[in-house]
Amino acid sequence: MSLKDSQEAVSEHLDRNSHMATVAAFGQQHTSVSMYSATTVVRAPESVVRGRWSPAVHGLVGEELLLNHRRGGRDLGMQLGVSRFYGHDAVLSTAHSDLQERSDGAVALPPRRRLRSGLTDTVATRRSGRGFSGKPVSLDELATVLWHAQGVSGSLPVPTAQDGDAAVALRNAPSGGGLYPLRLAVIAQHVKGLEPGAYAYQPHGHTLFPYRPAPHAAELGRYLQTADVEADRVALALVYVYDLYSNSQKYGDSGLVFALIEAGGISQNVHLARTSLGLIGCDQGGYDKQALERALDCDGTSRHVVHLTLLGHGEA
Ligand SMILES: Cc1cc2nc3c(=O)[nH]c(=O)nc-3n(C[C@H](O)[C@H](O)[C@H](O)COP(=O)(O)O)c2cc1C
Repeated sequence: MSLKDSQEAVSEHLDRNSHMATVAAFGQQHTSVSMYSATTVVRAPESVVRGRWSPAVHGLVGEELLLNHRRGGRDLGMQLGVSRFYGHDAVLSTAHSDLQERSDGAVALPPRRRLRSGLTDTVATRRSGRGFSGKPVSLDELATVLWHAQGVSGSLPVPTAQDGDAAVALRNAPSGGGLYPLRLAVIAQHVKGLEPGAYAYQPHGHTLFPYRPAPHAAELGRYLQTADVEADRVALALVYVYDLYSNSQKYGDSGLVFALIEAGGISQNVHLARTSLGLIGCDQGGYDKQALERALDCDGTSRHVVHLTLLGHGEA
C-alpha cells in the first residue's frame, strides 16, 4: 500500500467517523494549554501557535501540582512527615480527635436507619437527580445519610507510651492515616425538626453543631451558580470542607490529593445511602466557593470548600 492510499483510507475513515477528528482536536487543545509546552519534548504544532496567545502564567494550577507531586522512597520530606506521626503526641492527637467536637448547643441526631436495599441494585440505580420538589426530608433521613457518609463504625487500638487503651475511631469512608481531614457541613433549608441554617456534622457524637448564626446562611440560592436546579426546592446541601494542615502535616502535598480522593469516597456513600432512602441528589461543580467559605468559617487559606452535594425529595 502506498502512502497516498493510506492517506485516502484515513480520510475516508474520518469522513465516516467525524467524531474522531473532534475528539483528536479536543485532546490537542489540552496539550496546547500546558504551561510546560515550551519546555517539554512533545509540542503539538498547534501549541506553538497558541503559545503566543496564552503566556505561561496562564497555566493550570492542577497541572503544576501533579507535575510537582512526588511520591516514593526518595522523598525524604514525606518520610520525615510520616515518621513524625508515630510520635506519642501525634498518635494521641489522632486517637482523641473527638476532643475537637462541641457538645454545648449541639443538635442530637436520631440513630441511623439500617438500609436494606441490595448493593448491586443501589449502585446501578444511583442517578443524579435535579428535579427537587421542596418536600422536607426528615431528621432521621439526614442522620442516616450523614452516618453512612462519615459516621463512626469501628475502632483501631493504637500503642501509646502512657495511655495504653488509646484507639482511633474509624469512619465509614476511608481516610489516609485515619486523619479524616474533611468535615461535612450541612446547609439545611427543608429538614423537619431542624432550624434552617448551617451545621457541622460531628461524627463522634453523631450530632450537628450550628455555625455561628449568619444572616441568610441557609439560602442555597446565594451559593449555587447553576441553572440545573431550583435552589429553593432543594432540602439541603452537604458541603465538603478540607482542612489542609490536618493531613498535609503528615503527607505534604499528597495531603491534598488524598483529601480529594476521600471526598469522592464520602460522596459515593452519600449517594448510595440517599438512593436507598428514595431521595434524589446531585453533585454540583457550580457554586460560589468564596461565599460558602465565608458562611462556613473557612479562612480560604488552610480551610477550603472542595465539593458540594444537593439532596432532597424528587417531584412525584
Ligand atoms: C464533581 C462533580 C461535579 C458535578 N457537577 C454538576 C453540576 O454542576 N451540575 C449538574 O447538574 N451535575 C453535576 N454533576 C453530576 C454529573 O453531571 C453526573 O454525575 C453525570 O452526568 C453522570 O450521571 P449520573 O450521576 O446520573 O450517573 C457533577 C458530578 C460530579 C462527580
